[in-house]
Amino acid sequence: MKKRARRLVLNDVIDATPRAAHFRMEEFDAPAPASGEILVRTIFLSLDPYIGSILRGRHMGERRPGAGDCPPGRGIGEVVASSSPLLKAGDLVRADLGWSELSLVRAEEARLIHRGRAPLSAQLGVAGMPGLTAYAGLKHLAKAREGDHVLISSAAGAVGGAAGQIARILGAERVVGIAGSAEKCALVTNDYGYDACINYKTPDWKDQLKVALPHGADIYFDNVGGDVLQTALLNLALYGRIVLCGLASQYQADERPAGPNPGLFIAKRAQVFGLVVYDYEEQQEEFTRLADDWIASGRLTAHEDRAVGLEQAPAHFERLMLGENIGKAIVVVGRE
Ligand SMILES: NC(=O)c1ccc[n+]([C@@H]2O[C@H](COP(=O)([O-])OP(=O)(O)OC[C@H]3O[C@@H](n4cnc5c(N)ncnc54)[C@H](OP(=O)(O)O)[C@@H]3O)[C@@H](O)[C@H]2O)c1
Repeated sequence: MKKRARRLVLNDVIDATPRAAHFRMEEFDAPAPASGEILVRTIFLSLDPYIGSILRGRHMGERRPGAGDCPPGRGIGEVVASSSPLLKAGDLVRADLGWSELSLVRAEEARLIHRGRAPLSAQLGVAGMPGLTAYAGLKHLAKAREGDHVLISSAAGAVGGAAGQIARILGAERVVGIAGSAEKCALVTNDYGYDACINYKTPDWKDQLKVALPHGADIYFDNVGGDVLQTALLNLALYGRIVLCGLASQYQADERPAGPNPGLFIAKRAQVFGLVVYDYEEQQEEFTRLADDWIASGRLTAHEDRAVGLEQAPAHFERLMLGENIGKAIVVVGRE
């Protein structure tokens, strides 16, 4: 085991969009686990939008990290030392490992994971939390069914990419995405099998959306909020179901924009569901097995936006914060 390791820390509290320059690398001595703890060597670090919200003190009451703090981040790692009967050296775990090559974790806060047929890193993406988010929203909240016409925003992202494919698996007849570039839309239609994808940065995208959804959307899975949500509501079918999953268009805004007009919800007789994936954490293992089967049979595919080396995490995170990621943002920190 390495005696010294590296981690990234914050230079200061962050009160603007997180940028690479907000972080610095430092070295530390490998700690020994106290009773009940495990020491984990990070293999993959997942970068997700919620980390940006935590760093700005805007995530579900979580403490805002300050100068010298290591940012949070889910990862997959190998237990290298254990002072807990729950896990042993060599076990693979998923846990909040932070932006660090080595970290101490309470054993009960780590999940033992097993290799499936899919690549291990999929358990941070399409077979992990983002995949479960898509599945829970469509299956449990919107109750997706045969014949549904489904609209999904941020369709090239980790959640959106999974959502379109899972909607199809659940029987959707038509799946339309919204994404922020021609390159992203190509991924959405070519790899994720969406019927159409509208680039919301083109001037006539609202007209294109109407054409792509002639009967309106029975389900709208919203990852971004703002004007995209308002436009999606205009294209909702009567009795449509809306899953509110994310607010990517506003996380870094200084002021919250006014919400969509409630009159639209009334006129459409809409049902609206707020989604928090933490409510479904107990279903993660079952979902991972299900997703592994879908991946093995070619029904579910994922695109990763990978960087190699912990030192790449700040720049990679900046890309995510600016919406430049294409697919699930992952940092390869150590060897598998
Ligand atoms: N409710 C829950 O429990 C839960 C769980 C997981 C994730 N989420 C949310 O689900 C959404 C998708 O998550 P993800 O992990 O799949 O992320 P992601 O979609 O891979 O990345 C975020 C995307 O948001 C889009 N975006 C739209 N407006 C943006 C703006 N102003 N600045 C930056 N990006 C913007 C960008 O795609 P375009 O170029 O296509 O606009 C960007 O690539 C996020 O809002 C996340 O917070 C919610």
